[in-house]
Parts: sequence; C-alpha cells; structure tokens
Amino acid sequence: MARLDGLVALVTGAARGQGAAEAEALVAAGARVVLGDVLVDECRGVAERLGDAAVATVLDVTSIDDWEAAVALAESRFGGLHVLVNNAGIVKVASLFETSLDDYRAVIEVNQTGCFLGMRIAGAAIARAGGGAIVNVSSTGGLEGVPKSIAYAASKHAVTGMTKTAAIELGRYGIRVNSVHPGGVDTPMLDLSDEVRETGFTFLPLGRVGQPAEIARVVVFLASEDASYMTGSAVLVDGGSMAGPLGWNAD
Ligand SMILES: NC(=O)c1ccc[n+]([C@@H]2O[C@H](COP(=O)([O-])OP(=O)(O)OC[C@H]3O[C@@H](n4cnc5c(N)ncnc54)[C@H](O)[C@@H]3O)[C@@H](O)[C@H]2O)c1
Repeated sequence: MARLDGLVALVTGAARGQGAAEAEALVAAGARVVLGDVLVDECRGVAERLGDAAVATVLDVTSIDDWEAAVALAESRFGGLHVLVNNAGIVKVASLFETSLDDYRAVIEVNQTGCFLGMRIAGAAIARAGGGAIVNVSSTGGLEGVPKSIAYAASKHAVTGMTKTAAIELGRYGIRVNSVHPGGVDTPMLDLSDEVRETGFTFLPLGRVGQPAEIARVVVFLASEDASYMTGSAVLVDGGSMAGPLGWNAD
C-alpha cells in the first residue's frame, strides 16, 4: 500500500462513513490526520480510536473561520499540511419539482462551496508547506444525472469541474488535485436496509454495494507519491456502474 510517512492530512466529514475510513487509512499509511466534522462527538470518537496521529476539530465546511482554525490546528499540532480530502457531503432526495430553494442551496453550500473554501484555504497552507495533494470526493453523480437529486448532481458536477480547474492552477505549487467518483457505498448517507444491501446492487458488474474502505484506499493512493503524475483526473470507484449500458446480457 502507498505510504504517507511524514505527511499531514485534513479530512472533512470524518465522523463516520467514508471520511472515517479515509482518516483511518491515511493514519495506517503513516500520515498524521486532522479530522473535521459538524458531528463533534462522533468525530472525537474516531480520532481517539486512531490514537496520537489523529486529532478532531469542529469543521463546518461552509465556515471560513472553521477552515482557518482547522488549518491552524494542523500547522500547530503537526507542523504543516500536505493533503486535503474534501469528503464532507449531504444529499436531499426529492424530484426537481419538489426540491425547495432552501434545500437546493443547502446542498450546494456544503458540497460545492465547502469544496471551494477547502481548496482555497487549506490549499494555500499546502502551498506554504511546499506542495502535496488535494482529493475531492465527487460521485458518479458528478459525471451523470441522478434521479431525485438535482442539487446533489449539480454540486458534484461542480466538484468535478473545480477539481480540473484547481489542477491547472495549482500544479505550479507542487499540488496535485484529483477527484474520486464513488458509486453506491454502504454508509449512513445511503441508510440501506438489509434487503437492499443484499439485493439492490446485483445489477452492477461487481454485483454488490461498495465499502468505505474501498474508497479510502483510492484516496490514499491519490494522496501519495504513487500518483505523482496524476492531476486533474476523475477516478471512478463504482463497481462498474458507469462502464456502459447495464442490464445487457454479457454472455
Ligand atoms: N455513500 C454513497 O453512496 C456515496 C456515493 C458517492 C459519493 N458519496 C460522497 O462521499 C462523501 C462521504 O459520504 P458518506 O457516504 O460517507 O456519507 P455520510 O453521511 O456517512 O458522511 C458524511 C459526513 O459529512 C459530514 N458533514 C455534513 N455536512 C457537513 C458540513 N457542513 N461540514 C462538515 N462535515 C459535514 C456529516 O456529518 C458526515 O459525518 C460525500 O461527499 C458523499 O456525497 C457518497
């Protein structure tokens, strides 16, 4: 597995789901990690489980003050910042006609504006440290439509585009910027029943839902020197959901 010894990472939405798995995988790869989330107690619990290489902080990704405090914590506690994982996200499931303006704006604010603020504020800290990597967690919904999730699809398409734009601008600072695009992953966001977990993903080429650790391993790879010539890439981790038309008989 890729190594991140001596590097310091900041993961948003790290209290549970993919963010917690990413923080765990980053620590396992040798990084020290600041875990940020609005779910403060859960976030502290994850950080305590990970030991001295991890520290939790309140980080609402829509707040400039919280971003600045999280970066300051990385610099004071661990001596700098080299890796940002913009993972925090929310979804509001509703059809186009049923999506309120408030719900639309709430999703854009967290998923899109939060990613922008992270790249601007934490990205500047990574530049100060001499370079590193930013990994933005988009979605297959950042590359195709998502029924009943118009705001989510809008926000994740924005993350895909912002990733490529930042990659063009930040290469000169030694910062690589890539996006990962998970398909369905078994986290509290999907809130799967046992039945759907077992039968709801058999249509996929790999025939099952994804696990948070499977996304986390790709995040670690993109953060590491093993991905030293990758920037501006959109990396699918989706069990084949976007490989082509599904439901055709492969035999
Ligand atoms: N689960 C999936 O099927 C799936 C698929 C594709 C992409 N994603 C994306 O993966 C990322 C992680 O999602 P997950 O599946 O682990 O979901 P999750 O709901 O389990 O975790 C999301 C985390 O983000 C945090 N969060 C929400 N608003 C925040 C804010 N304003 N500031 C800081 N943290 C905030 C939550 O408290 C939570 O801990 C999200 O960006 C999501 O859109 C998930």
